[in-house]
Amino acid sequence: MTLAQAKEKLEKYGQQHLLKYYEELTAEGKEALLDQIEATDMEVLKSCKHREELAKKGVITPLAAMQLSEIKENRDSFTATGLEAIRAGKVGAVLLAGGMGTRLGSDNPKGMFNVGLTRELYIFECIIHNLLDVVRQADAWVHLFVMTSDKNHDATVRFLKEHEFFGYQEEYVHFFTQEMAAATDYEGRIYLEEKGKLSTSPNGNGGWFVSLKKAGLLELVHSRGIEWLNVFAVDNVLQRIADPCFVGATIQKNCDVGAKVVKKNAPDERVGVICLEDGRPSIVEYYELTQELMEAKDENGDPAYYFGVILNYLFRVAELEQILEKRLPLHIVEKKIPYLNESGELVKPDSPNGYKYENLVLDMIHQMNSCLPFEVEREKEFAPIKNMTGIDSVESARALLQKNGVKL
Ligand code: UTP
Repeated sequence: MTLAQAKEKLEKYGQQHLLKYYEELTAEGKEALLDQIEATDMEVLKSCKHREELAKKGVITPLAAMQLSEIKENRDSFTATGLEAIRAGKVGAVLLAGGMGTRLGSDNPKGMFNVGLTRELYIFECIIHNLLDVVRQADAWVHLFVMTSDKNHDATVRFLKEHEFFGYQEEYVHFFTQEMAAATDYEGRIYLEEKGKLSTSPNGNGGWFVSLKKAGLLELVHSRGIEWLNVFAVDNVLQRIADPCFVGATIQKNCDVGAKVVKKNAPDERVGVICLEDGRPSIVEYYELTQELMEAKDENGDPAYYFGVILNYLFRVAELEQILEKRLPLHIVEKKIPYLNESGELVKPDSPNGYKYENLVLDMIHQMNSCLPFEVEREKEFAPIKNMTGIDSVESARALLQKNGVKL
């Protein structure tokens, strides 16, 4: 893009300030900035003026989950079906590790966090060990796709290589990077993080399938005959991945997606709840749950919106390909964004100062025709690490790991 073209684009979107330091840059710096201006989607930034409208939901009704008792009765049959699919190479796993982990406050990728007390035990290590349990049970390797972002890719790859993938076979690990999105102030004006660099952050975990395709990995998915992709978050150290029973249940119920869910521990717990929206599977975020929905009961007298998602979904690949072209809703989230102030100095704010623009994997559920919510025991499978202390923290995850017999 030429300088004239960049000026034209910036004027259209009211972003002319991004060229404030242009003349101070080196020739390469100028080119890099123009490239970034060309690549940045500025159309989406307008949405920050009507954030509330973006969040509008359709009509919410309950979606029954397959509960522990039913799973127990059918465990052998589901597990046999799941193991058969895994042995046939039909199941791959996708680790979403592109997030910034800002709440945890470490500069390293979250997976590099050491949860050990008397020994080293990294988050990545916990996850890989959990997957290795299935590899041993099935006596077959599962392809593991790891999504990183520009901000943490090199550190993630270096770390896993240094640790020899914690015993995972390297040829079954495939990295790809997600897209970035510009970060803005409350008026939608993009921040600069350097004189020649727009402030960007990973664009949310919803773009994972598009990014996987862009990286050329969909060809591998096809050539290896992978029909199901189990997407999961980096921060749940008890996460069971490619769980044969879950895989088998989703296959037997012929659903486009399976979603692991847990019983909420309080009506207002901060987890998204599985439901139907206008008759299709969907997830309502905890902040979208009205008092009425929180108090609604099903025919057994249990809360009608009782099951929270834990970011562990098993998608049918053929169905994902159907929705490749469909846009996901935009989430505009208030965050702390480092920026250059008027004097050109970098400021790291202590409180939120603008918006990040994200797509979320949970919105992909609404694009699927059918979903199996599959209940798991939270004490055994849900130990998310978002913060250092308190709820969903290093502290709470350590306690749960110990409860599950993991030496720290
Ligand atoms: P979170 O929503 O907890 O975000 O991610 P985060 O960036 O890790 O943490 P905070 O909010 O800054 O503290 C849930 C999962 O989605 C992944 C994360 O790595 C985590 O596994 N994720 C999130 C991505 O892969 N890309 C993103 O852009 C955002």
